[in-house]
Amino acid sequence: MRKSHTENTVGPWARQKLDGLEAYLHAYTQALKKKPFDLVFIDAFAGAGRSKIRNAWKGADAEDLQLLDDSFMEDREQFIEGSPRRALKLQNPFSKYFFFDVDRRRAQLLTELRSEYQGRHIEIEVGDANALIRRLVPHLNRWNTRGVAFLDPYGPHLRWQTVETLGATGKFEVIVNFPLGMAINRLITRSGRIPENWRADLNGCFGTTDWENLAYSDEETLFGNTDRRKVDDAAARLLDLYVSRLEAAFGHVATPSVVRNTRGMPIYYMLWAGPHPLGRKIADEILKKRERITAPGRLPRH
Ligand SMILES: C[S@@+](CC[C@H](N)C(=O)[O-])C[C@H]1O[C@@H](n2cnc3c(N)ncnc32)[C@H](O)[C@@H]1O
Repeated sequence: MRKSHTENTVGPWARQKLDGLEAYLHAYTQALKKKPFDLVFIDAFAGAGRSKIRNAWKGADAEDLQLLDDSFMEDREQFIEGSPRRALKLQNPFSKYFFFDVDRRRAQLLTELRSEYQGRHIEIEVGDANALIRRLVPHLNRWNTRGVAFLDPYGPHLRWQTVETLGATGKFEVIVNFPLGMAINRLITRSGRIPENWRADLNGCFGTTDWENLAYSDEETLFGNTDRRKVDDAAARLLDLYVSRLEAAFGHVATPSVVRNTRGMPIYYMLWAGPHPLGRKIADEILKKRERITAPGRLPRH
């Protein structure tokens, strides 16, 4: 694998996601700094610690350009600090950091952070985020823990059971980067013919088969066959489904914040869920600075 691929390449909109994450983590650690908790940060799809930004300003719209600073425009290659670095450089750091990635080479790059942040408790594991979180949670339940898990998959790799397990601790907040436009909605084909492995992924991601009934309408034809059609507002319905499941698992959810690509298409949603209304208020305030929706029914078409 080439180094650039190992390092990860992202669109300029990644800055919106990472700035939002950093601002939220700053507020969270500031609010809890005097409390006697072991503050834990889990970055379960951690990446390589920094990403190369694609030359996406060619054809970028005004909104994307606002996300880029002048030095960024001048340089040929620009790197952006990824979620692990954003969490480590906080003014009031967490007591323990857990970074997971299935890609061995990306995880290897993360080990540099141990020498940059000596004295910090940093655990790096290579493997599937779902299995690693399941393994970690019993320990979290033993410690006097509070924490945040950032769950940032490319596709439907975050299993609902994993999210639910974190919710059941009553101690964790999650920020899920839900790749609805980028990945999930694309697996739900217009024709309704979905390969079995995609269907299994979607069932695992939503933790229910309800997504299928929401995304399609079935009509009997004159000849007794069923005509299956993907509904126009499938993405909005699926977002609604996921958000209401988060609310049931954690108690509170913030208003989803949409992240769009250079053509204005929604690619993912930042979803906050947690056990306390105060966390929700902070998440709402911070994410308010970014484009957001007030009701799933108002989503643009995907
Ligand atoms: C969107 S990138 C992460 C970017 C990073 N959070 C950031 O903002 O800097 C997703 C990462 O998840 C990793 N990944 C994919 N499937 C995974 C899995 N099942 N478990 C753990 N990591 C996985 C990929 O190797 C990739 O590095």
